[in-house]
Amino acid sequence: MDVAGWAVAVHGGAGAWRDEDEATACAGVSAAVSGAAAVLEGGGSALQAAIAAVVRLEDDPLFNAGTGAVLNRDGEAELDASVMTGHDLRCGGVAALRGVRNPVLVAQRVMDATPHVLLAGEGALRFARDQGFAEHDPMTVRARAAWRLRCQGEAGAAPTTPGAGTVGAVTLDIQGRLAAATSTGGVIMKLPGRVGDSPIPGAGNYANAWAACSATGRGELMMRLLVARDLCDRVRAGQHPQAAVNSLLEEMRHDVGADAGFILLSARGAVGIAHGTPAMPHAWQNSGGPVHVAFRRP
Ligand code: GLY
Repeated sequence: MDVAGWAVAVHGGAGAWRDEDEATACAGVSAAVSGAAAVLEGGGSALQAAIAAVVRLEDDPLFNAGTGAVLNRDGEAELDASVMTGHDLRCGGVAALRGVRNPVLVAQRVMDATPHVLLAGEGALRFARDQGFAEHDPMTVRARAAWRLRCQGEAGAAPTTPGAGTVGAVTLDIQGRLAAATSTGGVIMKLPGRVGDSPIPGAGNYANAWAACSATGRGELMMRLLVARDLCDRVRAGQHPQAAVNSLLEEMRHDVGADAGFILLSARGAVGIAHGTPAMPHAWQNSGGPVHVAFRRP
């Protein structure tokens, strides 16, 4: 397959973003693309680049992943993340993980250092500590304030509500390899122990030899439809990534609701981006081209 250089796309989460956060969110996804681009330009792997982008977004307290993650009903952050490489279908993830700074790095370690794909809860935490990941409190003042507001306003409300969130990256390196990485705090006021789509291969994150995808939005929808695998299969069947995300979003709107967003990258470096929510900060770049940044669909 002919490869037209490297490519990267990132998202900072589909949701009901506030207008006053637009500039900061766009700066965040732009910096994440630049971080990944530097890795790819230096000959680094698609996986290294995707992880570099997601680590930046996890460390940016504006985004619902790592530091800044939304809180569950108990007022605690439980983090989900996963990584996947397309050329060999390797993947690793963590779910409902507490007390680490960069869950995407723990997910990478699950892939590299265990025979498993997904570790959850206490077991994931024990593994993280065994691997040397230091204790870190991801709770921010803003996350705590949002949680308090929900507690006051939502007594008796549904246990899960959509929020702005999840971060992800899809990358293509100069050797033609694809990778995807996704990380999230999930949905605010989720039941303790709730796991979303982000750590589930095929649901919120997927990569194969044809395409790589990171999804965002209400994870329960992504898990029911296995959207990330579906989108990669559509590219494999010959669809352009933009046509693939457009058609899936329309189908979701009809079938289950469109509280969702996707970034999809083909092995030829073509990008597809769509969201059914009011906003989804995202950015992308192809080698030799400029960084494109947007907050809403055009
Ligand atoms: N898409 C993130 C979540 O629902 O957990």
